Amino acid sequence: MASTLLVPPAPPAPVAPRRRRRGGVIAALIAVPLVALLAGGTVWVITQTGRATPPALGSVRFVNPVGIPPFALSRVEDGVRVFELEAAASESAFVDGGATPTLGYNGPYLGPTLIAERGERVRVDVTNGLDESTSVHWHGMHLPAAADGGPHTPIAPGARWEPEWRIDQPASTLWYHPHLHGRTREQVDAGLAGLFIVRDVEESALALPRDYGVDDFPIIVQDRSFAADGSFAGGIGMQFDGVLGDTILVNGTVGPYLDVTTERVRLRLLNASSARMYDFAFGDGRSFDLIATDGGLLESPVQSTAVPLSPGERAEIVVELEPGERVALISDAPDPALHAGSASFDVLELRAAASLTPSPEVPAHLTTLPSSDVGSAAAERSFVLSGHDINDRQMELSRVDFVVTVDTSEVWTVRNDNPLPHSFHVHDTQFRVVSIDGAEPPPRLAGWKDTIALEGSRSYRLLVRFDDYADPTTPYMYHCHLLWHEDQGMMGQFLVVEPGQQPALNTDEGENDDRHDH
Ligand code: C2O
Ligand code: CU
Ligand code: CU
Repeated sequence: MASTLLVPPAPPAPVAPRRRRRGGVIAALIAVPLVALLAGGTVWVITQTGRATPPALGSVRFVNPVGIPPFALSRVEDGVRVFELEAAASESAFVDGGATPTLGYNGPYLGPTLIAERGERVRVDVTNGLDESTSVHWHGMHLPAAADGGPHTPIAPGARWEPEWRIDQPASTLWYHPHLHGRTREQVDAGLAGLFIVRDVEESALALPRDYGVDDFPIIVQDRSFAADGSFAGGIGMQFDGVLGDTILVNGTVGPYLDVTTERVRLRLLNASSARMYDFAFGDGRSFDLIATDGGLLESPVQSTAVPLSPGERAEIVVELEPGERVALISDAPDPALHAGSASFDVLELRAAASLTPSPEVPAHLTTLPSSDVGSAAAERSFVLSGHDINDRQMELSRVDFVVTVDTSEVWTVRNDNPLPHSFHVHDTQFRVVSIDGAEPPPRLAGWKDTIALEGSRSYRLLVRFDDYADPTTPYMYHCHLLWHEDQGMMGQFLVVEPGQQPALNTDEGENDDRHDH
């Protein structure tokens, strides 16, 4: 068996250096009682008193160079690019006060960035070094259901899982994280998440920043809170959307800054928070080019001053800097329809060097997308998200919610029936937004998406395609990506089958899941 080590062993995973806890972690105390009528006629009174909010703009001290996740080592074995990931418990030094118990892949917190080319076969050898079950889901990846890493493919403590598939989708910023039924939030929040970058010939031919860690940076944004002993704080309070933190981490660094050495930088933004919505912008209001969304490039750059991301969504932006300047990436108050009670806060400071290497202008044309014509759709379905239900039901591992025929497109109408935020994510595929309340989507939503923020009381029509992979036994998931909602059962599952094939959901696989041990 030919085995070539292409990349030297991975450098240590990013650990945020110790920092002084920045002055005044001020939780904004806003008393805004919201009354929401949820499924089953239950009235929830959600008080936002004490809701965790990061300190106001200008108060974060950017004292730590942002960690850049190393790219994952890989080797090529018989034409298959093989990566290795091991999930394990460790601790990280985020704040004064004490070490934070964390989980990570190949390091104490988060995981390395996997990079593969379209057309390559890849295999990821995942070892579960935790003392509990986990799974690894490749969010945004088009792949066979058995390799998808959902709740039907748990990895027992000490066990290994070796999914293999062929990368066949446009260049994009995908990510990976655990997906055990009922336990996703807990494991993601403890640190299990990483990026998976797909490259292709078309994107590689464009004059875009593409040098990882030099002018092309992963920006994994999470909000966390810390207890006095340094551990992550925040159980589930009586909040509708789950846990919000008062401290922003970028790539696992608190109070982060990024040294910029080129005129333009590409930021691959991932909202890896479990509940918080962001509206990414710059402190001085400058515009930037939005070049890609979840599943790849937009047709042309969308000049923007802000880009909203709900949990699980990605955006690639290119921003220009002047020599010597400092500017903060911030989150600006999101649309109140999306998230009542949020404020503006700092995320990351960009520090441009006194002289910058020239970067080419962002090309005016990036790619050509197929038209999102719904004429050929094989089925229409509708999904109403309300409370913690989708279509009045909660996730059941033993129930298939519907069956799709492989190599067909469907039109899905998705509606958030609550005045509070939900999102909608579909496994296996990248979809297109056909319309929102009957109107064309804004340019920023015109490209490939796998997750979409749902504003209250609006209908989103999506064109969803299911190519290549049929499996009558293992389902794919669709769910709200607010992780607490997902864990509460705001999820369903579908099978993709050959025409005429009988679904035969395998319900055995989930049984070595140890989630009841806790
Ligand atoms: Cu990012 Cu089903 O998940
Ligand atoms: Cu996913
Ligand atoms: Cu939700």
